[in-house]
Amino acid sequence: MTEIIINGTQDLPRAARAFLDHIGDSRVIAFYGSMGAGKTTFITALCEALGVRDVVNSPTFTIVNEYRDGAGEPVYHFDFYRINRLSEALDIGLYEYFDSGALCLVEWPEMIEELLPEDVLKVQILVDDADTRTLLF
Ligand SMILES: Nc1ncnc2c1ncn2[C@@H]1O[C@H](COP(=O)(O)OP(=O)(O)O)[C@@H](O)[C@H]1O
Ligand SMILES: [Mg+2]
Repeated sequence: MTEIIINGTQDLPRAARAFLDHIGDSRVIAFYGSMGAGKTTFITALCEALGVRDVVNSPTFTIVNEYRDGAGEPVYHFDFYRINRLSEALDIGLYEYFDSGALCLVEWPEMIEELLPEDVLKVQILVDDADTRTLLF
């Protein structure tokens, strides 16, 4: 287990770089944590560290947002909070995204648990206090 403590939002850029140094070849990264834990906030920091210049937002109406990193490579940001059945995830071509080799950052992975690839990197975001979060993976 690796642990990264995020000491306030001003610590997010450092934490994002530290996280990226630890993910190895992982391409599908699942973020578990309650509402308001900081999934979107941390994914935004990761995207900034990767050189994404697009606006990063939870993909509320679309399930998936596509960004480009600083090298022009795609980064996919999923939010499965609102899906009602697995077929909705499959209908967007989930496996094509997961198999693309691009970085896939997933909020609410528990909604599609049985569709996650075997080599998914699972990250827990724990709320320590109002400003502090712990990442466990
Ligand atoms: N260290 C921290 N890391 C991430 N978010 C933090 C931190 N400290 C405070 N926050 C706040 O917690 C909230 C997290 O919200 P959000 O990222 O939308 O959560 P989620 O996507 O998990 O529902 C934001 O208001 C953010 O500013
Ligand atoms: Mg969110």
